[in-house]
Amino acid sequence: MLEKSPFFTLSSDLLCLCDFEGHFVDINNGWEQVLGWKKEELISYSYYDFVHPDDIQKTLEISLRVQTEEVSYFLNRFRGKNGKYHWISWSGKPDSKKNIFYALGKDVSDNINHQQFLKQVIDSLPIAIFCKDAKKNFQFTLWNKTAEKLWGLTSADVLGKTDENFFPKEQCDFFRKKDQETIDQGVLIDIPEEIVDSPIGRFFIHTQKVPLKNAQGENQFLLGISEDITEKKRMAQSLEDARMQTLQNEKMATLGEMAGGIAHEINNPLSVIIGHTTNLKEKLKNNITLTTKDLLTTLEKIEETGFRIHKIIKSLRIFSRNEDNDPLEEVKLEEIINNTLALCEKKLLSKNISVTVEIPKNLKLKAHATQISQVLLNLLSNSQDALELLQEKWIKIEANEYKREIEITVTDSGNGIHSSIQNKIMNPFFTTKEPGYGTGLGLSISASLMRRQNGELLLDHNHKNTRFILRLKK
Ligand SMILES: Nc1ncnc2c1ncn2[C@@H]1O[C@H](COP(=O)(O)OP(=O)(O)O)[C@@H](O)[C@H]1O
Ligand SMILES: [Mg+2]
Repeated sequence: MLEKSPFFTLSSDLLCLCDFEGHFVDINNGWEQVLGWKKEELISYSYYDFVHPDDIQKTLEISLRVQTEEVSYFLNRFRGKNGKYHWISWSGKPDSKKNIFYALGKDVSDNINHQQFLKQVIDSLPIAIFCKDAKKNFQFTLWNKTAEKLWGLTSADVLGKTDENFFPKEQCDFFRKKDQETIDQGVLIDIPEEIVDSPIGRFFIHTQKVPLKNAQGENQFLLGISEDITEKKRMAQSLEDARMQTLQNEKMATLGEMAGGIAHEINNPLSVIIGHTTNLKEKLKNNITLTTKDLLTTLEKIEETGFRIHKIIKSLRIFSRNEDNDPLEEVKLEEIINNTLALCEKKLLSKNISVTVEIPKNLKLKAHATQISQVLLNLLSNSQDALELLQEKWIKIEANEYKREIEITVTDSGNGIHSSIQNKIMNPFFTTKEPGYGTGLGLSISASLMRRQNGELLLDHNHKNTRFILRLKK
């Protein structure tokens, strides 16, 4: 009989001696306390009969190893008397002379169950979660199921590896910079948008990185939480595209409303040109002598009329451009106003509306010229409607330069806007016009065009006439 230390009888861990064939030779009382087995129920039985079927193979392998060397932290499931399996962490040491080995087992079921529970929670979260170890070159130490799906990489692929094993250099450098920042600063870092090229293609993610402390209280681990925003981005883009299309459509509609006179506008000077040219041709045919002075006068008239048409067409072309993606540039207000008026002046005049412009010479704006032009055209179009039934019909365009901003005002001879609708006129689709006449979009789109250029569109509540203010930062 082997001599036993009092520790053997006292310990509530599982202590045992086994032969190299896998039979229990002796066990301590811990077995009864932990698993419910009495000594006589185990001695000379093979321990393989108690090991969980899924763990038999690795238990066989470790049993061979322990005949020649010491092993530790070997984990398997062992059946208790009530039929339930316990997770046991084993350490063992051989005594080759006696063909036996000593083993010590600790019941770690609580730990393992807890770990498995946490793993289940982490795996079933619908957001990608990963961990990296800053002391080991930011190797991955955790990679949940959603991360596997998102990146198309299994945890077996990833654990123990670093970003460099999977992603292009540029992306790795960016990830690494943010990882280091998180550890160094010890605070959550939010990365609203990252591009990722993974085995399943390119996508966009929103990531948050949080530092986690080790036992020494140092920020050693990095917890990352990533959300796929590819679809969201695509939706936002198509929404933006649709919005731009609406803007462009509305612009063309305004143009249509205001430029009804344009055909007429071009036709008139064309008749003048044709008239003069026919006249000259007839005279030449009939050998009527022309003085140089006559010839020059006629040619100048033709040229001047040609230029007028040129100006109108140029304004039209400028106006139809979509410059939303261009940077803001310095533009002369005078040019913008001239281009705008070229498109609608004749129509206003035909309605007996006089237009005056009083602006400082050489005043420059930092703006999108055609967007300012569109706002002006919208305001002029509204004024034209508002003045329809009034006796006194005029519109005044003025501008003032202040220290930090420039104000352009468009005033018409109307009596202002009734207080009951003042708050509503800038709302999309608000209109007081008959169906088929107003879209109710003019002012709301104009206001949004101004905001896009760091400006605003306001109704002047203090003026006795109807006055709108376009305010732009300098
Ligand atoms: N100069 C103005 N004078 C009087 N009312 C105006 C003027 N400009 C705008 N409004 C009012 O604001 C409303 C909204 O204008 P807007 O957004 O351009 O849409 P719409 O011109 O299609 O009605 C108009 O229906 C009108 O009632
Ligand atoms: Mg309008």
